[in-house]
Amino acid sequence: MSLRVLWTAGFVLCLTGLQLIRAGDHPSYVAAVYEHRVLLNPEPRVPLERRSALKHMQQNLRMFEEQTEDAARQGAQIIVFPEDAIHGFNFTRSSIAGYLETVPDPKEITWSPCSEPDRFPDTEVLRRLSCMAHKNRIFVVANMASRQSCDGHIDPQCPVDGQYQFNTNVVFSDRGTIVARYHKHNLYFEAAFDTPAEPEYITFTTPFAGRFGVFTCFDILFRDPAVTLATDMGVRQMVYPTAWMNQLPLLAAVQFQRAFSSGAGVTLLAANIRAAEYGMTGSGIFTPWDSVVHHDTEGNSGKLLVRSVPVMDPAFVGESYRTTLVPFTGYSKTNLGSELEEAQAWDVNFFSATQGDPKAQFCRTDSDCVETDSPLTFTSIMMYDNFTLTPLKGNKGNLTVCSGSLCCHLLFQRSHTLELYALGVFNGLHVVHGTYYLEVCALVRCTALHHSSCGGETEHAQTLMDFRLDGTFSTRRVFPGILGSGMTLEVPDHSGWESGSRFYMSRRGMSTGLVTAMLYGRHYEKDNI
Ligand SMILES: *[C@@H]1O[C@H](CO)[C@@H](O)[C@H](O)[C@H]1NC(C)=O
Ligand SMILES: *[C@@H]1O[C@H](CO)[C@@H](O)[C@H](O)[C@H]1NC(C)=O
Ligand SMILES: *[C@@H]1O[C@H](CO)[C@@H](O)[C@H](O)[C@H]1NC(C)=O
Repeated sequence: MSLRVLWTAGFVLCLTGLQLIRAGDHPSYVAAVYEHRVLLNPEPRVPLERRSALKHMQQNLRMFEEQTEDAARQGAQIIVFPEDAIHGFNFTRSSIAGYLETVPDPKEITWSPCSEPDRFPDTEVLRRLSCMAHKNRIFVVANMASRQSCDGHIDPQCPVDGQYQFNTNVVFSDRGTIVARYHKHNLYFEAAFDTPAEPEYITFTTPFAGRFGVFTCFDILFRDPAVTLATDMGVRQMVYPTAWMNQLPLLAAVQFQRAFSSGAGVTLLAANIRAAEYGMTGSGIFTPWDSVVHHDTEGNSGKLLVRSVPVMDPAFVGESYRTTLVPFTGYSKTNLGSELEEAQAWDVNFFSATQGDPKAQFCRTDSDCVETDSPLTFTSIMMYDNFTLTPLKGNKGNLTVCSGSLCCHLLFQRSHTLELYALGVFNGLHVVHGTYYLEVCALVRCTALHHSSCGGETEHAQTLMDFRLDGTFSTRRVFPGILGSGMTLEVPDHSGWESGSRFYMSRRGMSTGLVTAMLYGRHYEKDNI
């Protein structure tokens, strides 16, 4: 999402969260995502013949084939490839013509392009993907550019050139049959594509894990279809091709993937493309409790992630502690009853421990501390939004910052005061690179020791912080996220609604410095005011 590129980051591949959950007493399946280093058309605005477009796409598809084989060898039953990973990006409506294929609606036509290659013309990409699925007996989720003819006499929205052009996800069963087709709804400056007239709520069913929902990239920030799938339709497992530009401190790819999976209470199989020159990296396999992720802004290659994932579809496994999640209500780290009580008990102890420190100190360095009682607030631009912030002072404290009806409240205790942190609030319409209404509480590590550095991009922090963050949100859609130094991801020990009106999360005992703790609220109903 960012137009800035980070060069400072390292390489991270890690398993976060609780790994001690007993295996064996719950059905699972093996999922794979592939972060593909996309080979781009260097001149995407220049129209190409079909033959040249195919030649370009076959280079990317060749790598898809290798990775599908590798994933299947490791036992994967489903593999997800990134958005734009076959054709690239930055086309115009006309320059993409050679890349387009017509994808028949699987609700109307049952078709395996691998088995019946000549049934529809100009479907080489569909064929090759279908054969990958068929040959390796694996579900394949891929993103491609599609066209769909329309008739302006019947359909008043039909574009003047007589066809829709869609950013499209296609899902193939392990027999190679097309089982789902999804047209991206929330486009991100994609001149080549049309927005479908209505959002599409697309799911497909697998024999190994039940039902999955489908959406793409920027869709993750909007209600339709992503949140509607999770809340109204009860879909607990999502496949998510993306081409996401990292933007710290709130919207790095893996950071928001983690937050979406936690907030919506779903498994998210997220595949991002790898294009360092555009700040694109960050893929993972997320459950509400843990994740395997890849984030690499320096390397030059793709990355296959494979892991076993518990089945979350209640229609498939029946109700269990894993499947009875209610989206956007918050969960304990393990979603086990006894642990929940423990987490709450800890919260109570923590409050009393932090009470009564009225003369908080604000330290620029260990020897340069200012004692102050006065709440000091300032504003700083964070990701194009004008946040109101208040700095953390001393080793522990209790602070509040408000914007309109949204008050953010923080209790914290930290290892030292050498780094500047601030608690920020934003309650308003975000208008740069997309229009969407935010209610955000964010504890951020500032990149330097002056206030205007709060909200800047950093992947690093040394301060160990125990905290409890809450906010008086007017929306029920809050995505909790905790980012540690070196792009490590954490889930809250506990999160949820208290007294019906405040959403909170708490975390203690992190082993890395805290970069960002956020409660990212989205007020979808206010997007169009
Ligand atoms: C895509 O377009 C953006 C904005 O015009 C430009 O900065 C970027 O270099 C382009 N990327 C490619 C791959 O052409
Ligand atoms: C935090 O401060 C507020 C007032 O500033 C006070 O009402 C509240 O009890 C404090 N909470 C804790 C846990 O110290
Ligand atoms: C941010 O908001 C404050 C207070 O409303 C205002 O004084 C300041 O000019 C704003 N900053 C920017 C860059 O718009």
